[in-house]
Amino acid sequence: MSVGGKSVELVFFDEGNSRDIRMKTIATVREAVESDLPALLAIYNEVIATSTAVYALEPSTTEDRRTWFSSRCASGFPVLVATNSVSNGILGFASFGDWRGAWPGYRYTVEHTVHVRHDVRGQGVGSTLVEALFPRAIALSKHVMIGGIDAANEASIRFHERLGFERVAYFREVGHKFGRWLDLVFMQRFLDAPGAPRK
Ligand SMILES: CC(C)(COP(=O)(O)OP(=O)(O)OC[C@H]1O[C@@H](n2cnc3c(N)ncnc32)[C@H](O)[C@@H]1OP(=O)(O)O)[C@@H](O)C(=O)NCCC(=O)NCCS
Repeated sequence: MSVGGKSVELVFFDEGNSRDIRMKTIATVREAVESDLPALLAIYNEVIATSTAVYALEPSTTEDRRTWFSSRCASGFPVLVATNSVSNGILGFASFGDWRGAWPGYRYTVEHTVHVRHDVRGQGVGSTLVEALFPRAIALSKHVMIGGIDAANEASIRFHERLGFERVAYFREVGHKFGRWLDLVFMQRFLDAPGAPRK
């Protein structure tokens, strides 16, 4: 099911011609299906290998992604992909799940994740994906969405600020990767109004 489309001018690296091609296309957001997992894995593993955006130390595997995907689906949480309407290639993905899931008192709060393919970043794909998460979280009666963001990931912090997230916590040296300590920022966004009642 398609949940949103946005016309963005995307620049791709065309491996056949070894040059960038600028093209007007539609980044369409839809629910992920199992056959998208290899493309999701490639995006995720590029992020793991090249950055501290994810605190994983080793590449993920197809099996790991399949388990993650099944668990999200079984819990009724969305996994969304953005696709290029021309080539149908996967441009990025986003999802949310329980935050501190062992504690039912947190049931109206979710933690999201979003990653965009390296060659199409900064062109609106990530915003389209996260904006598509909001109505889905609201439909599930969620109240707050939280992102855990490496403190050095200034682009992602700016990105989340522009989407209405505010910085609410700063944890010092809670992660360690690439031989150094990592600080973690929590950013949150209300999905409805602060104080909105729940049963
Ligand atoms: C962070 C990320 C999801 C944002 O998605 P995106 O499609 O690049 O972002 P958008 O084009 O929708 O939004 C642009 C804004 O995002 C920020 N941004 C993030 N990465 C950027 C990049 N590589 N180039 C330009 N802007 C970037 C900027 O603040 C920009 O706003 P500005 O134009 O006012 O400066 C994406 O860049 C990404 O996957 N990065 C690597 C992995 C990562 O950090 N994931 C998030 C973990 S919390």
